[in-house]
Amino acid sequence: MDQPNKLSPISVALHWLVGLGMIALTAIGLYMSRAEVWALYPIHKSVGVLLFVLILARVVWRLKNGWPAHLAGGSKLEQALAKLVHWLLILATLAMPISGMMNSGAGGHGIDVFGLQIVPSQHSADKPDQALPYNAGVAELGDEMHEWIAYLLILALVLHVAGALKHHLVYKDGVLRRMLGSRIEP
Ligand code: HEM
Ligand code: HEM
Repeated sequence: MDQPNKLSPISVALHWLVGLGMIALTAIGLYMSRAEVWALYPIHKSVGVLLFVLILARVVWRLKNGWPAHLAGGSKLEQALAKLVHWLLILATLAMPISGMMNSGAGGHGIDVFGLQIVPSQHSADKPDQALPYNAGVAELGDEMHEWIAYLLILALVLHVAGALKHHLVYKDGVLRRMLGSRIEP
């Protein structure tokens, strides 16, 4: 379990695996959809579904373990902002894969993990190269959510990284070192 001066290796590993995975998928998602690099779609979707499993483990772990204990640095306003941003980030880790799966699954494009089929694709007989949605409304909602929540995620992440750097460079407390696995002075 997490201690105020030392986070459990599970918290640290889940934070960085999920965090760096989210950053990579955001960058790939924005690039592939704007540059229309279709070959990246199945890789983005497969990694996203696998990351979702880790994300669920992380959310369960957070619910069981509570949030890391607060450390000294920062005004009351900064502390409240940090809490809000942590909530936005963790909710975005759930909303991004769910909306992606709504878009691909309900849109008839299919979902598979490196060839292992999870939801089959569906095509009309007369236009075999076009996906036929199972539920166009759900697919459209997923598509909109996937794009707009990504913008919110990027904003939250900029604030999050700025906060981590401010703790490290200005307050010189152990917030960043603790998330890197170090035992810090209480
Ligand atoms: C290079 C990027 C990142 C850095 C430098 C970073 C740094 C940190 C640090 C230092 C903490 C500890 C805060 C505390 O002790 O109160 C933290 C916590 C947290 N971070 Fe990040 N982070 C990064 C990326 C991400 C990403 C991409 C996400 C999610 C999408 C994320 C989600 C969270 C959450 C939810 C917490 C609260 C504690 C927890 O649940 O483990 N972080 N981060
Ligand atoms: C797990 C975290 C995920 C993140 C952070 C993420 C991020 C993104 C981003 C930022 C985009 C560009 C959005 C846009 O501007 O339209 C995108 C596109 C896309 N993502 Fe994800 N994604 C994730 C998971 C998934 C999953 C699990 C699936 C499906 C199984 C998926 C399917 C797609 C598809 C089909 C597009 C292209 C949408 C279009 O061309 O309009 N994503 N993703």
